[in-house]
Amino acid sequence: MAILVAGGAGYIGSHMVDRLIEKGRDVVVVDNLSTGHRAAINTKARFYEGDTRDHDFLEQVFTKETIEGVIHMDAFSLVAESMKDPLKYFDNNVIGMVALLEVMHQHNVKYMVFSSTAATYGVPERTPIHEEDRKEPINPYGESKLMMEHMIRWCDKAYGIKFVALRYFNAAGAKADGSIGEDHHPETHLIPIILQVAAGQRDKLKIFGTDYATPDGTNVRDYVHIVDLADAHILALDYLIQGNDSQAFNLGSSTGFSNKQILEAAREVTGKEIPAEEAPRRGGDPDSLVANSDKARKVLGWKPQYDDVHDIIKTAWTWKQKHPKGYED
Ligand code: UFG
Repeated sequence: MAILVAGGAGYIGSHMVDRLIEKGRDVVVVDNLSTGHRAAINTKARFYEGDTRDHDFLEQVFTKETIEGVIHMDAFSLVAESMKDPLKYFDNNVIGMVALLEVMHQHNVKYMVFSSTAATYGVPERTPIHEEDRKEPINPYGESKLMMEHMIRWCDKAYGIKFVALRYFNAAGAKADGSIGEDHHPETHLIPIILQVAAGQRDKLKIFGTDYATPDGTNVRDYVHIVDLADAHILALDYLIQGNDSQAFNLGSSTGFSNKQILEAAREVTGKEIPAEEAPRRGGDPDSLVANSDKARKVLGWKPQYDDVHDIIKTAWTWKQKHPKGYED
């Protein structure tokens, strides 16, 4: 029986596939390579290139393979882009989910681990955020993921598709040996952009917004290492296979870092000056997003290995030094 990773060529998906293979699992990947990279997929996984909105494509994969469970990481995920082009997000994310759930139902596949997000909460009612807190997304990306969570919930009631929704905060870092890592075109995320400046590929960092309601005025985020995230998915899948009920869990470190603090940490890790300037707000960014992840630790037994943001940045820097141009190198 294989685990299907939808979006397995992406940043989070490729680390997920790699980790499953390290743990001896049989892995099938579907990805349309719109943002992912073929070179990022562990060669021990069986890869099918295609789009999850394409019902016939999925039907072929599910007929050829014996799928035990699905890890769904197949979504557009840029907050700022979603503000400019909301329909791109509802089309890819929501319609893709309909097709995947339909085919899972037809093939009697009963387990899904879903990559959800802190963006489902919108402006949090308290910090750190607990799973049951109010969810009012302030960007279409978060809205699309909340819709997807609701869709699976109804499919659980109707068809018995059990799910774990993992609401991650800010995924960061790379596999420690630097063989796979983050490579987006264009890059919009804070840590890889800072490391592009450190590597001399960009003049300076623009810090978007310095008038937020946070101690230094810049956004506060909760960074979690990509391999720790992958491990949480494996625990979640086994939790479902053992017959437990559908649940949502936050995945974060419970510690927030401001954009300025991340910049400072990156200067320490790289030993580079990393010039930066203050710039206007980007749009769609809540002041602060920090997780309470006690539930994942208690219920799933999740034990993140990386608890220092310097160590997380260090792994991203190793990847950057080994692959300055990403998967082109
Ligand atoms: N930022 C800058 N300058 C840049 C890039 C980013 O100041 O050049 C700031 C952003 O405005 C934000 C912070 O850095 O305040 C983090 O931004 P990212 O783009 O790295 O990450 P986001 O917090 O916007 O989003 C990420 C994921 C989402 C997820 C969210 C949950 O991309 O999928 O974390 O917290 F929903």
